[in-house]
Amino acid sequence: MRHVLVTGARAKTGAPLTDLLAQDGAVVVRAGSRDVRLLESDRDRVEAVRFDWDDRATWEGAVDGVAGVFLVRPDRPDAAELAADLLAMTPRGAHVVLLSELDRGYFGPDDWAPRVERAVRGSGRPWTILRPGWFMQVFTDPRFMLDDLVRDGRLPLVSGGQAVSWIDARDIAAVAARSLLDDGHDGQVYELTGPEALGPGETATVLGSAMGRPVRHVELSMEEALEGVEGFLRRNDEGAYDRIRRGMFGVVTDTVEQVTGHPARTLRQFAAEVFAPLAVG
Ligand SMILES: NC(=O)c1ccc[n+]([C@@H]2O[C@H](COP(=O)([O-])OP(=O)(O)OC[C@H]3O[C@@H](n4cnc5c(N)ncnc54)[C@H](OP(=O)(O)O)[C@@H]3O)[C@@H](O)[C@H]2O)c1
Repeated sequence: MRHVLVTGARAKTGAPLTDLLAQDGAVVVRAGSRDVRLLESDRDRVEAVRFDWDDRATWEGAVDGVAGVFLVRPDRPDAAELAADLLAMTPRGAHVVLLSELDRGYFGPDDWAPRVERAVRGSGRPWTILRPGWFMQVFTDPRFMLDDLVRDGRLPLVSGGQAVSWIDARDIAAVAARSLLDDGHDGQVYELTGPEALGPGETATVLGSAMGRPVRHVELSMEEALEGVEGFLRRNDEGAYDRIRRGMFGVVTDTVEQVTGHPARTLRQFAAEVFAPLAVG
């Protein structure tokens, strides 16, 4: 049995990846979380392991003997150093799949996100880098838009009227699974998007149809969107919204289908699954 560490195993991409890998008869998933009590227990071929970027004592047990690592980088300025240190403890042959992000040259080479990618490339381990755009799961994240959508029928976005090719995190997980399980992905950088670019009004319409009630896009100013967010995270979020306004998240690739053999899910499919149970009337 090969052991594969999935960091962020409770998160948007790590959770479906854990499911996919556990279905592979030859893999035992080491499911990483800061709080293993919150991970579903008693699952075949899934072992919960405590993993915390802020507690190096948890690292060795997480990477010991693994054949693969799904690396959810921590979004913070020292992420590259943390990733490099973790990978130095990881077995030499372990395939590292990094969850990065779509940036299309927006970040400078010394910005934190390209530095994390460099740390992975320079680790001496086989690697694959995933660069996804915005996840559909932001619509169902209670920390983000869920309340606005469900309670008020509002889709608050900084968009500049530009389209976004929303991607289902389950499709990112599917690409990660193939990268970890199959040959041929070493040294690949995959830009991952959903199958279509939707403007803010179209996005609201798709979500509203699934919910059976009107949803309207409300354009936020940058200041409104960043209210209460400070420091590094503020600069980072500002960069993400700015890229939306520049249309950089409207690019569409067919990489999900190329790698997995299945087309990427549409927002309509995602919304029908998650919002139809909430539909009115
Ligand atoms: N959301 C998007 O649209 C989007 C788009 C492109 C790229 N990304 C990137 O994808 C990554 C994940 O984003 P997400 O939105 O999917 O986040 P998420 O669902 O909130 O997942 C983040 C996970 O990181 C884990 N975590 C937090 N602090 C940690 C620590 N100190 N040590 C170990 N694990 C820690 C948490 O797991 P536990 O609580 O179980 O420890 C949490 O579940 C980020 O790097 C983000 O920049 C996101």
